[in-house]
Amino acid sequence: MSLHLGRTQFGNPANTGNTLTRAQAEELFNAWVLNPKLKFHMQQVGHLMKCWAAEKEGLDVPGAWKWEMAGLLHDADWDQWPDQHCKKIIEELEQRNIDPEIIHAIASHGHLHFGVEPETRMDKMLYAFDELSGLIHAYSLMRPGGYLEMDTKGVKKRLKEKSFAANVSREDISDACERAGIQLDDLIAFIIPRQAGV
Ligand SMILES: [Fe+2]
Repeated sequence: MSLHLGRTQFGNPANTGNTLTRAQAEELFNAWVLNPKLKFHMQQVGHLMKCWAAEKEGLDVPGAWKWEMAGLLHDADWDQWPDQHCKKIIEELEQRNIDPEIIHAIASHGHLHFGVEPETRMDKMLYAFDELSGLIHAYSLMRPGGYLEMDTKGVKKRLKEKSFAANVSREDISDACERAGIQLDDLIAFIIPRQAGV
């Protein structure tokens, strides 16, 4: 089964700046995603995207919401329509006249699967957070103190253990860091305290 999208242009440039409201995004999120673990993953990635946009990209509240919305909805169709993963949410957002930047970020979050290269900062950070966030969350669940006193060294140890969170692609993580121009240590150090608050 191929999830390749077969195109690299998404949305209409005339819709630049259009987003769902938070209430609309949450309504779609709750209607489409039923699995609580997947919901939590998407909320974590959304939160990391918002924090990065505000803190590292210097974006204002509407700008950071675009990043958060991409994170919050990036796997929206994975739960109920895995064979249409990415295609279905992209088409939904296109129908709703959403900003192409948000749609492109979602379309490129797994470029090996969807055949869409991460190009913008938003694209690259969504790709970078997706897998690493999941591994750090899995690590928090096996630690008695959760995120308390978790450090970069411990996360890197888990990354080296191929059997730990085996579904997390180590190749995607290093590829994403390279594309985003970020050191792995810095990305881990960014995620730990922020994800602890979700
Ligand atoms: Fe994801």
